[in-house]
Amino acid sequence: MSEATAGGGSGTERPPEAGKPRIKEYEGEGVTVTFEPRRCLHAAECVRGLPEVFDLSRRPWVLPDAAAPERVAEVIRRCPSGALRYRPADGTAEPPDAPTTVRRSASGQLVVRGDLRVADGDGERRETRVVLCGCGASGNQPYCDHSGPCAEPDDDVAEER
Ligand code: SF4
Ligand code: FES
Repeated sequence: MSEATAGGGSGTERPPEAGKPRIKEYEGEGVTVTFEPRRCLHAAECVRGLPEVFDLSRRPWVLPDAAAPERVAEVIRRCPSGALRYRPADGTAEPPDAPTTVRRSASGQLVVRGDLRVADGDGERRETRVVLCGCGASGNQPYCDHSGPCAEPDDDVAEER
């Protein structure tokens, strides 16, 4: 993975409900962006794809209205881990890839895209993009958190897409 580290910033952070993941929310006029820091695998698709919206040196690090909502959505769909998600103002949902695809990275991550239901111990979450832990070492099961062999510098999910 690259050295990029998403996750700074001062978006509106919903207080996590018991057993629920911590998710930051960045509200815009055309699109609202949400970010789940524990799922970020630093593939840097966001900062490379739309630096005017995603800037790690700025607070908040996400400015949803700094580009057209369609562009923001397009770049967020490149985020392999699903750490970044979006909600357009018109209420539409992110279209899942069809057919669903599953790939195993060289270091064991399971890279999945499609219309997904992921069981995480507290229930089921609807997802369109996930990187699941295939090695058993992650502390954020079932999602990969780079605790295992996947932390190697030559491991880059973004490059495999
Ligand atoms: S594209 Fe997703 S996984 Fe990669 S740095 Fe951005 S938020 Fe993290
Ligand atoms: S595959 Fe990344 S922590 Fe297990």
